[in-house]
Amino acid sequence: MDFNGKVALITGGGNGIGRATALALASHGAKVIVVDRDAAGAEGTAGAIRQQGGDARSVAADVTRSAEVQAYVKAALDAYGRIDCFFNNAGIEGKVQPTADYDEAMFDAVISVNVKGVFLGLRHVLPVMLKQKSGTIVNTASVAGLVGTPGMPAYVASKHAVIGLTKTASGEVARQGIRINAVCPGPVDTRMIHSLEAQLDPNDPANASQRYQAALPTGRYTTPEEIANVVLFLLSDLSGNVTGAQWVVDGGRTATGGAATQAMQR
Ligand SMILES: NC(=O)c1ccc[n+]([C@@H]2O[C@H](COP(=O)([O-])OP(=O)(O)OC[C@H]3O[C@@H](n4cnc5c(N)ncnc54)[C@H](O)[C@@H]3O)[C@@H](O)[C@H]2O)c1
Repeated sequence: MDFNGKVALITGGGNGIGRATALALASHGAKVIVVDRDAAGAEGTAGAIRQQGGDARSVAADVTRSAEVQAYVKAALDAYGRIDCFFNNAGIEGKVQPTADYDEAMFDAVISVNVKGVFLGLRHVLPVMLKQKSGTIVNTASVAGLVGTPGMPAYVASKHAVIGLTKTASGEVARQGIRINAVCPGPVDTRMIHSLEAQLDPNDPANASQRYQAALPTGRYTTPEEIANVVLFLLSDLSGNVTGAQWVVDGGRTATGGAATQAMQR
């Protein structure tokens, strides 16, 4: 996978999956723009890339705000003149609550980041790629975009929507040399999964973690680096005619019909 001379833009790059992907892209030669609403996290990622001899800049932006999305696109163009790869990845988990109790403001917040944020990224990056007549995009969905997860109505709705956006936009730009795919991680060892463990079992999150991992066919969480490997493939020329697709990376979870979901129920 060769990203030499390519410019990669990553949202949610200050932590977790986004950070691992930024580091991996840089180690394969990409110049990287790291976007996150956590300015220190974004700069931490960019600084780590520069320390390894790579080229990276950070931009603090909230993906739900159109002006800030336009600003991160402009920052990428001002710095490097083009955008070859876009990892549209920022997301939040919301609360674990059944639909009958779900907090309305939290529902709006999850939809805003996970759906509107992904839409705004596409809305403002695609015109750049259409002008270039090239580009690859990966949107971060989830296995929660493919199957239900009791207790996570907003998150599940948002990730189904990300897959819908991916399918629709991919068909619009395929003839212009642009490919758009979704990655669907199962549980990944990042802050997000530890937040869910703490919500499921506040007195003993380690127990929730142990039960959850034991219910996965592979017996463990996916690492952020394992997600990054699939994202790099989808962003690279190796996935030449792959577009509009959903790539599951979940330790076998969805294949087993939600065994893990049942294990999460108390
Ligand atoms: N960890 C998992 O188990 C898992 C599973 C499936 C999908 N995902 C998805 O992967 C993506 C990355 O999650 P992660 O696990 O790395 O979590 P994370 O919390 O470690 O990282 C998410 C990053 O997104 C940033 N972010 C959140 N809201 C933002 C906003 N409005 N504007 C800009 N940046 C914002 C955060 O500051 C953070 O740096 C998310 O879309 C998440 O839904 C995660």
